[in-house]
Amino acid sequence: MGKNKIVVAYSGGLDTSVMVHWLKSNYDAEIITFTGDLGQTKELTGLKEKALKSGASKVYIEDLRKEFLEEYVYPSLKAGAMYEDAYPMATSIGRPLLAKALVNVALKEGANIVAHGCTGKGNDQVRFEVSVGALEPDLKIIAPLREWEFKSREEEIEYAKKHNIPVAATKENPYSIDENLWGTSIECGVLEDPMTAPPEEAFQSTTAPENANHNGDDLSIEFIKGIPVAVNDSEMESISLVRFLNNVGAKNGVGRIDLIENRLVGIKSREVYEAPAATILHFAHKELERLTLEKSVMHYKSIIAHEYSNLIYNGLWFSPLREAFSAFVDKTQERVTGLVKVRLYKGTLRVTGRTSPYSLYDPALATYTAEDQFDHKASEGFIKIYGLPLKTYNRVTQKIKNEKTSAVA
Ligand code: ARG
Repeated sequence: MGKNKIVVAYSGGLDTSVMVHWLKSNYDAEIITFTGDLGQTKELTGLKEKALKSGASKVYIEDLRKEFLEEYVYPSLKAGAMYEDAYPMATSIGRPLLAKALVNVALKEGANIVAHGCTGKGNDQVRFEVSVGALEPDLKIIAPLREWEFKSREEEIEYAKKHNIPVAATKENPYSIDENLWGTSIECGVLEDPMTAPPEEAFQSTTAPENANHNGDDLSIEFIKGIPVAVNDSEMESISLVRFLNNVGAKNGVGRIDLIENRLVGIKSREVYEAPAATILHFAHKELERLTLEKSVMHYKSIIAHEYSNLIYNGLWFSPLREAFSAFVDKTQERVTGLVKVRLYKGTLRVTGRTSPYSLYDPALATYTAEDQFDHKASEGFIKIYGLPLKTYNRVTQKIKNEKTSAVA
């Protein structure tokens, strides 16, 4: 047997840098690193040199931003998928795509193993491994953080120094941060105390609502079949549109989320998120659905949204059920086309207008003026029949009650 060839999902942080060297020596392996660009601007500079210095023989950095937004994020937006009604899942939804791209590199390079830097108590290990397994069932996966000897950051730093692995000389950030175009996840440090408000320095992009500008901002967002295509009358492709909304949202303090969340592995954790574009787009999209979806479709879709968000959060993106949900969601979006006006003000969002060629809002039915076309008389018969089961039920209830009281007497 020749030596192993491992493709490592590489972020350039301490864990994955140490991992490159550790895997190389512990598995007698050639190491190739893979980094997917999902819009995490801060981390990509100097990454290639870092990976090579850590011991990689080849480095892949792929721009996945467009695919991320259009093939993963937008389907989740159309579905209205918010985990536990609060988290737009920036981290969760990036994992299947990273896993897919990682697998592709492994196949191209003829690697027999892939490795990732997720911890043993989080959701991300599950998302990575279930996705890799779904795409390439026989590819071996290693999660060094679950098996290596290091018990602390300090021990990893010591190992890095000993083996000349470059580690960032900057002051240690007390937070664990995962960033992409759809949002930033912030954990650890003082955030672990649910009674402590996140300190301002924990936030990476958003202005505190109380410090946001007094004028606020008005946005008009246009959707075609559930997909945002233009803001304030200018057409934008996905990356610029999401970036633009992130900027406007951030400066108005919109999109901060502070959540006690149920992880798949059974732990409750305190998570802080910044997701301005996701917050604005989910809000606006929902407003357009209120206008354009037929009542029973709209009501039923919220059940699907709930299930869909669980599938994404729990790492089951590459599943036939998720595909079936997507087909349902796409059908519902055929008329979710139109314009929503939203006002951003000091951390708040409010709808100020909505219009659609498929609007189901009928002024002739809704009005309380003389123009009213609604047949008021028809309500009488409707109520009679609609309430009939309850009348019948309670007649019986009363009869039983009366029989009991007369038996006692
Ligand atoms: N709790 C979130 C999720 O499971 C975020 C995880 C974030 N990871 C991190 N390294 N901060 O999707």
